[in-house]
Amino acid sequence: MCAMEILVCGATGSTGGATVDALVATPQFAAKEVRVSALVRDLEGAKAQALKTKGVALVEGSFDNKESLMAAMAKADRCFLVCNNVLNQVDLECNVIEAAEASDACKYLVKISTCGAVVEGAPPYISKDSVIQYGRYHAAIDERLDACTKLMWTSLRPNYFMQNFIGDVFGTLANKMVAYPHQKDQKATLIDVRDIGDIAAKMLLLSDEKIGSTYHGKKLDIGGLKSYSIPDIVDIYSKALKNVPIKLVRCSEEEFAKGLVGGAGFPEWLATSVAKSHTVFWEGNATDYQSPPEIKELHPKFRTFEEWVAEHAHLVKLVE
Ligand SMILES: NC(=O)c1ccc[n+]([C@@H]2O[C@H](COP(=O)([O-])OP(=O)(O)OC[C@H]3O[C@@H](n4cnc5c(N)ncnc54)[C@H](OP(=O)(O)O)[C@@H]3O)[C@@H](O)[C@H]2O)c1
Repeated sequence: MCAMEILVCGATGSTGGATVDALVATPQFAAKEVRVSALVRDLEGAKAQALKTKGVALVEGSFDNKESLMAAMAKADRCFLVCNNVLNQVDLECNVIEAAEASDACKYLVKISTCGAVVEGAPPYISKDSVIQYGRYHAAIDERLDACTKLMWTSLRPNYFMQNFIGDVFGTLANKMVAYPHQKDQKATLIDVRDIGDIAAKMLLLSDEKIGSTYHGKKLDIGGLKSYSIPDIVDIYSKALKNVPIKLVRCSEEEFAKGLVGGAGFPEWLATSVAKSHTVFWEGNATDYQSPPEIKELHPKFRTFEEWVAEHAHLVKLVE
């Protein structure tokens, strides 16, 4: 029997990397029933080389090079797609979708979209009128998926990544404070990127029949089992840091965005959208949602934020 080949696009990033890790940990990979390949821009780069040591085959290519995408898809039975938020994200992701549709080999694509929150008084997070710029991008990419006639696909809509909080770990926590533009009781079902990778990998390994009957053509939310408010998060930080008191500062949306630009190097448009995701959607009580049954059936157990903080607390260098 020929091994099934899964092409991971975005494998050098966080969700793509987590998907690779989940795929190479499966018995199907160990038994050589599944091959994992990664489309990478820099074959010799450290991230690509690290994938190679895991047994992943490297394919050189770029989302803006259609020929390279067609060549990579020629052998791929299934494909995973994630791209970071960039101004030409729609064109880049649509190029990958088009190559997958045009390929005779590729039957199924799993795409990482963004948070599917819906709040009263504003357009949905993912919609063509969204106040979140990359929410508009994901709406356009989902529309391209809707237009597919041959390819089966699933679009995953994860809530806030726990990994976003690495900004606190290496940032303000050293000074025993955190700053957010909202700080009341509204909660979010934070999700560990590794759970997203586990879910995507499980989906990519399903039979054509199961994909067709349960997953194809769906836009599925992903949220962790537990939800957290900003005060909950501060409490978890404090406990993990041996009960050191952590001050919660309320900043404005603009100050929060400025911090993302200055502290984390975000471009301004992206920082503005991330800040609005806090003030419009999290503060608007729209981010406390659970995954639908299709997700829970595949992946019943999720990592908690307490576990994530316990893993990362040693990285906080408290200023005495
Ligand atoms: N942060 C959140 O809370 C959150 C929540 C829900 C959804 N999301 C969504 O998740 C996505 C970001 O996921 P992530 O954190 O895994 O991203 P990431 O770590 O930045 O990884 C992006 C990947 O895309 C690759 N890539 C970018 N442009 C490319 C191109 N032209 N050709 C080939 N590869 C290219 C990068 O490769 P290189 O290594 O070559 O750059 C990298 O492997 C965004 O679409 C965002 O909207 C985020």
